[in-house]
Amino acid sequence: MHWTTDQITPSVGLVVVTRTRSPIRSSVGLKAVMAVTGIILVLFLVAHMLGNLKVFTGASSFDHYAHWLREIGAPLLPGVWFLWIMRMALLVSVVAHIWAATTLALRARAARPVQYAHRKKIQGSYAARTMRWGGVIILLFVIYHILDLTTGTLNPVGDPSRPYANVVADFAPARWYVTLFYTLAVVAVGFHLRHGVFSALRSLGQQTPRGERRAKNVALAVAVVLCAGYLVVPFAVLTGLVS
Ligand code: HEM
Repeated sequence: MHWTTDQITPSVGLVVVTRTRSPIRSSVGLKAVMAVTGIILVLFLVAHMLGNLKVFTGASSFDHYAHWLREIGAPLLPGVWFLWIMRMALLVSVVAHIWAATTLALRARAARPVQYAHRKKIQGSYAARTMRWGGVIILLFVIYHILDLTTGTLNPVGDPSRPYANVVADFAPARWYVTLFYTLAVVAVGFHLRHGVFSALRSLGQQTPRGERRAKNVALAVAVVLCAGYLVVPFAVLTGLVS
């Protein structure tokens, strides 16, 4: 935080001290933080979805792939270094993404001291609410998901060296409620992505009705493809296609 002496009025001995924001805390800086961290998280989501689809190639192929993931970078990087660098990058991105979103939302609220008497159900407010609740659901899901499929704590098999067996046990028909929770979380990710990708494309592209329409369609396509790619795995187990 920087403090600057703005005005010095010797006659009345008045010193007015004002705060200047570091560039990253400006609204444009915060939006850039949202965009950069959002891109990192989307890249992770795409890679993770493609990796999950390897479940259709069988147990040994999927387990082999999961073991390889933990050793990327070797022998240049020792042991699980790459994995931990990736985990740290994801954690920093998630924290920065939430911090920037919260700061921007609080600032927008402070700029409007009198709440709208009648809040119109326009896209802006609808999307803002979806993003907030969607974000909370995704955060809770990721905590559950790590305890389920990474550490194995909440998984019926729970053996980190056998990810295929963990996935099959997870989405067994008797545990339909797990599939339901995963579906809810993945749909929340889809809504979040649709709005995030749309906002990013609108900022970067043409601000014309045609440009907006195109941004909306691309965002919807990205969200639908990602949702389908994720959901096909639990539903393949639920229906016995993968066992
Ligand atoms: C519904 C389909 C999904 C399936 C079947 C699935 C499967 C898995 C599996 C098997 C692992 C453990 C990998 C290993 O340790 O070998 C994992 C880890 C992880 N998944 Fe998912 N996942 C799904 C959806 C998601 C979604 C939607 C997100 C994000 C919102 C996500 C985020 C993560 C994260 C952060 C890890 C931990 C990576 C690590 O640090 O090791 N997953 N997932």
